[in-house]
Parts: sequence; C-alpha cells; structure tokens
Amino acid sequence: MRVLLTGGAGYIGTHTAIVLTEHGHEVVILDDLSNSSEEAVRRASHLAGTELPLVVGDSADRQLVARTLREQRIDAVIHFASLKSPNQSIAHPLTYYRVNLDSAIAVLEAMSETGVARLVFSSSAAVYEQPGAMLREDAPNGLALGHPYGRSKAMIESIITDAATADPVLQAAVLRYFNPVGAHSSGDIGEDPHDIPNNLMPYLGQVGTGEREQLQIYGDDYDTPDGTGVRDYIHVVDLAEGHVAALEALEPGVLTVNLGTGQGTSVLEALHAFERVVGRVLPHRIVPRREGDSAYATADPTLAHERIGWRARRTFTDAVADQWRWHQANPRGYRG
Ligand code: NAD
Ligand code: WQD
Repeated sequence: MRVLLTGGAGYIGTHTAIVLTEHGHEVVILDDLSNSSEEAVRRASHLAGTELPLVVGDSADRQLVARTLREQRIDAVIHFASLKSPNQSIAHPLTYYRVNLDSAIAVLEAMSETGVARLVFSSSAAVYEQPGAMLREDAPNGLALGHPYGRSKAMIESIITDAATADPVLQAAVLRYFNPVGAHSSGDIGEDPHDIPNNLMPYLGQVGTGEREQLQIYGDDYDTPDGTGVRDYIHVVDLAEGHVAALEALEPGVLTVNLGTGQGTSVLEALHAFERVVGRVLPHRIVPRREGDSAYATADPTLAHERIGWRARRTFTDAVADQWRWHQANPRGYRG
C-alpha cells in the first residue's frame, strides 16, 4: 500500500515509516514540522533505505490533504499529526481543540472526497476516565477526563465512529497507545522534545547525558509496590509494528485496540534500569505528586493480539538500551 503519514516526521511517525517500508509498503509524509525537523526525515529515509517524500504543510488544510492523496495515489492514511502535551493543553485548550479536531476532520473529509477508505488513528491511554491496571477497551471513556488533550482524542474517536456509521466503506483502526519509549536500535532517530521533557524516559536520558541535573520523582506514596507510579512502557518499534498489523487487518467499521505490553514498570524501576545501562547512579529526589497523575496505567493487550495478531516483543530493558544509545549519540537531539 501507499500510505500517507500525517505527522510522520515526529517520534512515532519516523519509526513507523521505517517499519512500513520494511514490510513492503510505500510511505509519504505530510508534516508542518512544528514539532519535528527535516533532519529526522532525512535520517529515517537513510534507515529505510529509500527516500521518504515529505510534503511540508498543515494536516488541517483539507485541500492540501486531498491534493496529496490524489497526486501521491494514496491507499491509506495513518493520522499521527497532533499536539500532545496534557499540561500544555490545560494552558491552551482552544489551540489543542482547534489543531487536533480540525486536523482529524480535514483528513476524514479529504479521504471521503478522494475515495481513500483506510485510516489508522493515533489515540491514547489518556482517553480512559479511570486510569488503572489492565485497562480493557470497554472501560468507561468519555468527556469527563483530566485534560483537553485527552478529551480531544476521545472526541476524535467519536467523530471517526460517526463517520464510519455514515459511510460504511470506511475502514478504521483506533490505536490507544500507552507510554511509547525507546528508539530505533541504530540510535540515529529517537524522541527529541524541544523543551524540558515532561515525560519520564526522555528526562532520564537527559539526566544520563548531564543535560539535566537530577530526576524529580513525582511522589513515592502511591498505592503501588514501591510507592511510585506504574506505567506500561512500550518500545516505539513494537508500537510501529502495531500500526502495520492494524493497517493490514483493516475491515469496514472501526476497530479500537490498546497498544501496550500489559507489563507495569514503576518510576524507581525505570530509574534503576537506566542506571544499569548508563553505568552510574543517576541523581534523583522525591517531590510531591504531579497533579492529574494516577498510581497505575497499564493495558490489557489481549484484544490487539486477537484482532490484529500483534503483541509487543521487546522488553523494557531493550527500550532503555536503545533510548540511551540515541541520547548518547545525540545529546542535543536533531539540533546537535
Ligand atoms: P510528535 O510531536 O513527535 O509527532 C507529531 C508530529 O505531528 C510532529 O512531527 C509535528 O510536527 C506534526 N504536527 C503537529 N501538528 C501538525 C499539523 N497541524 N499539521 C501537520 N503536522 C503536524 O509526537 P509523537 O509522540 O510522535 O505522537 C504521534 C501521535 O501519537 C500523536 O497523535 C500523539 O497524540 C499520539 N500519542 C503519543 C504518545 C506519546 O507519549 N508520545 C502517547 C499516546 C498518543
Ligand atoms: C510516567 C511516570 C510520573 C516525569 C503521558 C501522557 C499520556 C501519554 C503518555 C500522550 C508517572 C513519573 C514523570 C518526571 C516522574 N501521552 N514522572 N518524573 O503521565 O503516564 O503519560 O505520556 O498521549 O497522555 O499523560 O507519562 O512519562 O509523564 O510519566 O516521576 O520527571 O513517571 O509521575 O508516574 P504519563 P510520563
């Protein structure tokens, strides 16, 4: 298939572009480079062994998306393009709703206009109302969620369902990612946050390289085995493979699946795993809980295995080793 990746220059998109190419698909990227760079696409092209065409533009521009679908003879869309920071979404809710909802609607309209029927959508564990252990897809989700980012993803899930009801030709997969981590095993591409990282793993990487002084652990008084928060960290290449599996399993209607490992890792366990690959103790201190955080968020990954034949194969240790290789080789990300 020829697959359009909106937001394909980003962290998950570049890894998915490589895995799609390895599976014999052809990739075209549409990205406004608001949170990525041409350098990321250049490196991903090198790793894919083929030039990944990049259209620089806004995925909320319906005419641009439709023109790209036609001119590039696209068979399927993976819609990654989105703003993605829960904290930023609380400060800038209207921007988050505009960018995320406009992009999703423009992509759906452009697909309908040009007869492209296959869609894979990047959703998030942030859609679940009650984070917890072994979340199943039928756990309550909706609009009473913690932040505008999560709500925007829940709204887009509903929009896709409504679009599929109105147009039975549409074949969509909604993928709810848990915590994507790690990097390509080459260390050439990885997550490159432009500001101080919000997320644990890139922060740990920057403590490892000395870019940041110490990790602040947000609370050690949760009801978990060691008191720190437990998450389901999934290697980004496993996640990328989940997109290929979903794409190849599409059928009319909407299939919603978790992409997670089912394994929980605490903040302290993550810290110690990082220390083992870095080879030294990493400075850290316990600070109060971060607002909005929960004790647990892990996936029940059974449905993805049953419906798209996918399961995560890489361990958390693999992810930490690959992430560290990326940080060591690129301490200032793509700007270095
Ligand atoms: P990322 O920021 O690295 O990638 C998103 C890409 O979209 C960037 O390259 C950015 O430049 C581009 N983009 C943003 N707005 C755009 C627009 N209007 N038009 C065109 N391009 C635009 O983020 P990522 O981690 O690769 O996330 C990809 C998707 O996965 C997002 O939808 C995100 O919400 C979702 N997701 C991410 C995580 C995570 O922790 N990384 C977890 C769950 C879900
Ligand atoms: C993991 C654990 C923190 C940083 C976020 C989004 C979610 C999804 C994935 C997009 C928690 C602790 C963190 C630090 C810490 N993104 N932590 N010190 O919050 O599970 O999920 O990314 O869809 O929507 O909310 O991930 O990496 O921020 O935190 O102690 O400096 O690490 O409290 O227990 P989170 P995270």
